Amino acid sequence: MLDAILAQAASHPTSAAAGLPSELQTFVVNLVYLIAAACFIFGLKFLASPKKARRGNTIASCGMAMAVIATFFDARIMAGGAKGLTTALLGLIVGGGIGSFVALRVSMRGMPQMVSLLNGFGGLAAGMVGFGEYLRETFVLAHVPGVDVRISVAMSLVIGMITFTGSLVAWAKLEELKVKVAGMPLSGVVMFPAHRIMSLVAGALILVLVLSLIGSEKAALLAVLILVIAAGYGLLFVLPIGGADMPVVIALLNSFSGLGAAATGFVLHNNALIIGGSLVGAAGLILTLIMCSAMNRSLLNVLAGGFGTASADAGGATATTTHTGTVRKMDAEEAAIVIDASQNVIIIPGYGMAVAQAQHAVAELMGVLQKKGINVKFAVHPVAGRMPGHMNVLLAEANVPYELLADLEINPEFSQCDVALVIGANDVVNPAARHDKASPIYGMPIFDCDKARTVMVCKRSLNPGFAGIENELFYLPNTVMVLGDAKAVVAAICKALKEA
Ligand code: TAP
Repeated sequence: MLDAILAQAASHPTSAAAGLPSELQTFVVNLVYLIAAACFIFGLKFLASPKKARRGNTIASCGMAMAVIATFFDARIMAGGAKGLTTALLGLIVGGGIGSFVALRVSMRGMPQMVSLLNGFGGLAAGMVGFGEYLRETFVLAHVPGVDVRISVAMSLVIGMITFTGSLVAWAKLEELKVKVAGMPLSGVVMFPAHRIMSLVAGALILVLVLSLIGSEKAALLAVLILVIAAGYGLLFVLPIGGADMPVVIALLNSFSGLGAAATGFVLHNNALIIGGSLVGAAGLILTLIMCSAMNRSLLNVLAGGFGTASADAGGATATTTHTGTVRKMDAEEAAIVIDASQNVIIIPGYGMAVAQAQHAVAELMGVLQKKGINVKFAVHPVAGRMPGHMNVLLAEANVPYELLADLEINPEFSQCDVALVIGANDVVNPAARHDKASPIYGMPIFDCDKARTVMVCKRSLNPGFAGIENELFYLPNTVMVLGDAKAVVAAICKALKEA
């Protein structure tokens, strides 16, 4: 194949900027794109394991760097001469500069918000490139774009603009901006009168406009209308979803942004965008479905809204519970005595550990216990915290070895465990999920930590977690509550253990 291309290239004019025959140049660019795509795939594969995640990130980043550099050698950019190259370089410097600046400053707590913004601007870029290319083909090149281009442009406009405005709303909800929309706090469920009807009408309008754009030879006005209505639809789509469900919505919008990029790839005939966008689209959708199934909820149930209306303490839930039953309490020093006498300890971190930023204290506790010859393991639930891998990332930041982390497969071990130490987790250890058919979390797989000899729950109060429901674990005879901020309590337990 290379021979054929080289032979053809020999008879072809050379690209002035690169000094290469243009077919060879296109071949090399596409070859680099192919290698970049392989890097994306291996990167994603490695990201699935905490042990290899850093390597996966590096491989995928190298792939992206290769794809970006190769794009500078794209025949169409080079055809623009110095002006084309300067414009592309300027975009790289400004965009890359802002991205690096924000990424270096963001805290783990702000990560979902940042992902949301990245999705949004990815969507905006897809919409704008699609729109610009449509105008360029129709007005600058003055020819009728083919049906394939018109379909791709329509897809970039619709998906890109829904992703853009939807992601901005998701970001604002996660940031818990103290803003009211139509008299309702933005971070909760926001529904206009006749909201569903407006959404249906906007959806139908988009469909009609898309079909008209595909059927028309020149229809810049239709493209503008699609841009505007799709942007409005993005707002209507995300506003009614409670702030606490935003991680799922963000994963879905991430998938949309990938599909938008893939559509733009078809518009620009850029293979890297098509492959990279499709990978993001598929990965985002799989992640969305994994999150839904780990919560035992359907995607439709999440998108219908209502669950997890944001409240400050629970980070999402509407606290509607009353505290009933007998609660046994211990202070950190008493807890340390019980822990000191144990052989097997399983630590179950949850959202509260992230809020308290207690991961370093937890890692220190692990070290102290190991020095005393006590076996320590971590039980990390797939939806503990507020974003996929939330606990894994925090524990990795505190240098907790990956080998000590287990997910639901650890459940049979709780019956041999002396102390199950729950640190800021709530819903993921609520036994109601196993038996209470009326509970909103019924069917969600949970950690069977109630089967341990002693369960110690470290949180600030008896308040509910994300799902807004009472946790019967707190009232079991083998449970003791060690109330307080997770970081302070764990540090106090460590201190007492060291002194013991
Ligand atoms: P939650 O059920 O949300 O409970 C967290 C607990 O942390 C709260 O009850 C709170 O109790 C406690 N807490 C808050 N700040 C604390 C602090 N400074 N020190 C100590 N404790 C503190 O957490 P979980 O068990 O991790 O469950 C996660 C929930 O989020 C699940 O229902 C899941 O379905 C949902 N969700 C997860 C995701 C992903 S991808 N992870 C996405 C969407 C929804 P106090 O106020 O009494 O301290």
